[in-house]
Amino acid sequence: MLKIKDLKKDFGEKKVLKGINLTVNKGDVLGIIGPSGCGKSTLLRCINYLEKPTSGMIILDNKEITNKDNLANLRKKVGMVFQHFNLFENLKVIDNIILAPVKLGLLNKKEALIKADELLKKIGLEDKKDYYPRQLSGGQKQRIAIVRALIMNPELMLFDEPTSALDPEMIGEVTSLMRQIAKEGMTMIVISHETNFIKNFATRIALMEDGQITLEGTPKELLGKLKKNKVKDFLSKVENI
Ligand SMILES: Nc1ncnc2c1ncn2[C@@H]1O[C@H](COP(=O)(O)OP(=O)(O)OP(=O)(O)O)[C@@H](O)[C@H]1O
Ligand SMILES: [Mg+2]
Repeated sequence: MLKIKDLKKDFGEKKVLKGINLTVNKGDVLGIIGPSGCGKSTLLRCINYLEKPTSGMIILDNKEITNKDNLANLRKKVGMVFQHFNLFENLKVIDNIILAPVKLGLLNKKEALIKADELLKKIGLEDKKDYYPRQLSGGQKQRIAIVRALIMNPELMLFDEPTSALDPEMIGEVTSLMRQIAKEGMTMIVISHETNFIKNFATRIALMEDGQITLEGTPKELLGKLKKNKVKDFLSKVENI
């Protein structure tokens, strides 16, 4: 469903993505790991066109994403969850959730409120719908951010370190929601430093280093390759895999 071909991204002189090739099929949960600064977030932001690629192709459902016509379509099909939640602090939970689908005309307000209620019930936070984000814990904020993406009924969800801003005791509630979504068949790309989580959760893992994908495979395959290649600094982090 998603094909990335020779994707490059420069920021001025700095070459951040140096030719990424990736295929994500329906139902895949692709985990991306790699050292800080290697370009993981930039890759996700390019997929969602929050950053304009310098060159290369991103093809979603057989349509290349390059122009404005396809951009609105992309935003409907691809949901993104960020490390720092990115909820609107001045809006109540319920308004955070219904904002995009109503604004983009996917649902009318009444439909959106019904759907939002269903989703809030699903995550056990229906009593928080009139709260403001500042009144929620980090784990609750992240689950609301996930629901805000889900209400769009996306085909692909991108997660950029969804648990790394959380206190340890809140990581579980977010990862278990992600597992549940994956079980329901969602296609996902997940950047995470939680190697145990990635190991048990991802169907495939890609290792990114210095703007390139240097290894890719199932969690098991990757461990074998990593051991052989002795990827220096990174090995210590992923040897739990
Ligand atoms: N808007 C920008 N302008 C200039 N440089 C940028 C911009 N965004 C990212 N970079 C640079 O691109 C490189 C990759 O950044 P990126 O955030 O993609 O890394 P990352 O792999 O997500 O790292 P981390 O694990 O720390 O989140 C870094 O050197 C960063 O400074
Ligand atoms: Mg990042």
